[in-house]
Amino acid sequence: MDARAGTIERFLAATAPAHTSIQEEMADLADDWGFPTIGPEAGAVLRLVARLTDAERVFEFGSGFGYSASWFLRGGADTVICTEFDEEEAKRGVQFAAEGGYADRLTFEVGDAMETIARYDGPFDIALIDHQKHRYADAYRAVLPKVRTGGVIVADNITRGPIEFADLVAHFEDGAPLPDPERDAETRGIGEYVGTVRSDDAVETAILPVGSGIAVSTKVR
Ligand SMILES: C[S@@+](CC[C@H](N)C(=O)[O-])C[C@H]1O[C@@H](n2cnc3c(N)ncnc32)[C@H](O)[C@@H]1O
Repeated sequence: MDARAGTIERFLAATAPAHTSIQEEMADLADDWGFPTIGPEAGAVLRLVARLTDAERVFEFGSGFGYSASWFLRGGADTVICTEFDEEEAKRGVQFAAEGGYADRLTFEVGDAMETIARYDGPFDIALIDHQKHRYADAYRAVLPKVRTGGVIVADNITRGPIEFADLVAHFEDGAPLPDPERDAETRGIGEYVGTVRSDDAVETAILPVGSGIAVSTKVR
């Protein structure tokens, strides 16, 4: 990372919104567990998206204990459907929601998010994709018909995470092939996701280098 990029990251961290007390507890738990939440810089964008879309319903693929969901709620979203296949994480999410006084606005679905989305009807104002990287494009295809026009799909870990970012740069700059799925399914999954949303006329996508890098796609038709 060059020095200026490091300074910008520090500036974004220093100017991100402060956590609420319940988010602070979640951040402490994330530190204890080494759990990768979306963080306050990207959280601020989730809050912004919820506010700008006047969001009623949000669907998340991969919720952990509800940290990202808490940012949608801070942006005024009425309800968030959280999906999580780790029972302990979901249980902590339900506890945090009760403690934070927003249990009536969150639903935790324990199990595979890809099966859960099949059981839900739209419309959703927002979807967050933050589960297994090799399934991002499948999640996008599953949720897109259920997102209203003008709604937004956000995907995390576009520039950082369990991925080789240099391989993505080489792919999009020079057309280098994405890694084979047997070698690196995560990087391939993110590359396929970015390729999918960039080539789909149904959405307009901006990639924002906040947190671990998010792709923000607005459904335009
Ligand atoms: C990066 S974390 C999510 C973080 C969360 N969005 C936040 O910002 O706090 C990914 C989570 O997705 C869960 N997960 C991965 N694949 C899943 C799937 N197919 N269905 C449900 N949960 C899944 C993992 O157990 C993990 O808790």
